[in-house]
Amino acid sequence: MTKYQSLIPKYFDSVIEGKNTHLLLLKNEGGMQVLLTDYGARIVSILVPDNKGNLVDVALGFDSIQGYLEADEKYHGCTAGRFANRIANGKFELNGKQYTLPQNNGINCLHGGISGFHDKVWDRRVTYQSHVEFYYVSKDGEEGFPGNLKTMVSYTLTRNNEIIIKYHAQSDADTPINLTNHTYFNLDGEGSGDILQQVLQINSDEVLFVDEHQIPTAIVPVEGTPFDFRLPKKIVQDITENDEQLILAKGYDHCYVNNKPISQPCATAYSKNTGIQLDVYTTEPGVQLYTGNWMTGNDIGKRGNKYLPYAGFCLETQHFPDSPNQADFPSTLLKAGAQFDSETHFKFSIKK
Ligand code: BGC
Repeated sequence: MTKYQSLIPKYFDSVIEGKNTHLLLLKNEGGMQVLLTDYGARIVSILVPDNKGNLVDVALGFDSIQGYLEADEKYHGCTAGRFANRIANGKFELNGKQYTLPQNNGINCLHGGISGFHDKVWDRRVTYQSHVEFYYVSKDGEEGFPGNLKTMVSYTLTRNNEIIIKYHAQSDADTPINLTNHTYFNLDGEGSGDILQQVLQINSDEVLFVDEHQIPTAIVPVEGTPFDFRLPKKIVQDITENDEQLILAKGYDHCYVNNKPISQPCATAYSKNTGIQLDVYTTEPGVQLYTGNWMTGNDIGKRGNKYLPYAGFCLETQHFPDSPNQADFPSTLLKAGAQFDSETHFKFSIKK
């Protein structure tokens, strides 16, 4: 049973820059369903059973391609790239050359520029409704980045209610790369209100503080700050504290340092109402907690609900923001001919 009516595939049949878009379905024995579209290699819907066995859609999004095209918030569920998160001033230097990118977020380049990977129609291959692969070739010079970059993102739905996301890429010239999934989660169900009462744990001792342009300035211990999520706490607990970092970002919009191997969760979220728990695992050195602070309320989501600020939270596994300009950060440089690999798991369960 679900109050979440199915989406209508024909509303996802569109043509963007000469390429057809689709709605794709993955499902498993437990009744979990994941809907995706090749527009942005993105997650549209995640239906998981709650503590009563009813399916709940825990991912925000739209019910048509048109919805995604017209949205204020362009990144729902998408693969963000070629460089997820911010690059200061839309500039970086590589091999003695200056590169200039679109400044689409104040003075920064955000999520790969104006027409980043979220805005591309990816080729696709679906296997047995449990696995889909998306392919995209980003041309040399696209949004200012060097090198022809072949990218593959795959989503696998396991019988354990786990979404496994794998990224592979290869370039014919040196290029920075940072890929993430930008799903907004609401474990009470999308459109059911804000996520502030949901409980979050981030197994991280350190967070990146940012300047007024949200560019990292320091790696700071979470101890004694509102950023300490080492023990589970409601998202709302400290979000309104009179804290410079929270005020400038209007809430949490910060990258945590992740030292956990992929066998241990870097973050866990939980809703008391549905009993649904989400565990996030990754090979990435960082996870950006973003609490949907900048949502405008203009976007009407899948089932006619307005997406107001804090309607969803993102746990974006990734390298640190602005890495191409910050020599001390783990490198985001992909050398010509080398292989880029990254993996993230979103695991759903009912909290015992
Ligand atoms: C950023 C936010 C930004 C959002 C856009 C997040 O990854 O950290 O600042 O507003 O993406 O979707």
